[in-house]
Amino acid sequence: MKKDVKNEFGVFGERPQVPKKLYNAKYIFGGLLIFLALVILPILPNLGKAVPPPKPQVDTPAIQKLAGQDKQCVEDTAWMRANHMLLLNDWREEVVRTGKREYTGKGGKKYNPSLSNTCMECHSNKSQFCDQCHNYVAVVPNCWGCHLEKEKKVAKAEAK
Ligand code: HEC
Ligand code: HEC
Ligand code: HEC
Repeated sequence: MKKDVKNEFGVFGERPQVPKKLYNAKYIFGGLLIFLALVILPILPNLGKAVPPPKPQVDTPAIQKLAGQDKQCVEDTAWMRANHMLLLNDWREEVVRTGKREYTGKGGKKYNPSLSNTCMECHSNKSQFCDQCHNYVAVVPNCWGCHLEKEKKVAKAEAK
């Protein structure tokens, strides 16, 4: 035991002996464990897993009917992937503002510029096509409040 502890004010007596004891250790460590478990548990199921990239399906009846060369979109696939939303805006402008209901696509093919009657005619599998990508990037086009998607149209017709 060291005696006569010194500091700047002089000499003191023995350092007071305080027993080193952690009170309630059971509860403290128990509580910490429960806290850690609660924080980590929700993360565990998804740890190390990436969200799978979307796989848009194009094997709809309307597309299967198209013969080899014609099995393509209104424009190039890559262009469509990047610009379909702009094309839809252009179609809407043309139809609603100028009343022009004809669009000349890739290779001079003519189309009726219509979301429900053209896009959704070929891409009748909205949930496996449009939604695949849109869910992945979390975009929610609000078109379907007014425009019919083919799936619903077919379901309604069959119900009658
Ligand atoms: C004549 C049938 C047809 C019409 C009409 C059509 N598509 Fe397509 N679309 C296809 C086919 C077939 C493919 C896949 C082409 C390929 O695999 O190269 C495709 C591909 C696409 C892609 C790219 C998918 C990918 O995998 O990257 C998008 C986006 C798309 N279409 C959106 C639309 C939109 C929006 C419209 C309406 C403006 C439309 N399509 C009209 C047949 C059509
Ligand atoms: C290959 C993936 C892919 C497919 C397939 C696809 N989209 Fe998209 N779409 C996107 C992405 C990505 C965006 C968002 C682009 C952005 O934020 O600029 C988008 C945006 C849109 C928008 C604009 C939404 C907004 O709020 O600005 C519309 C409308 C749209 N898509 C319609 C369709 C329709 C209709 C189909 C099916 C016929 C379709 N898309 C299929 C990837 C896809
Ligand atoms: C509030 C209702 C409403 C909403 C929401 C809406 N539209 Fe329309 N849209 C209309 C009406 C009404 C017309 C005119 C229909 C006609 O004259 O054939 C139209 C016409 C169109 C046309 C041309 C005609 C046709 O048959 O498709 C396109 C393309 C179009 N809209 C795309 C879109 C897209 C893409 C979205 C979503 C980003 C959208 N619209 C959201 C009501 C709506």
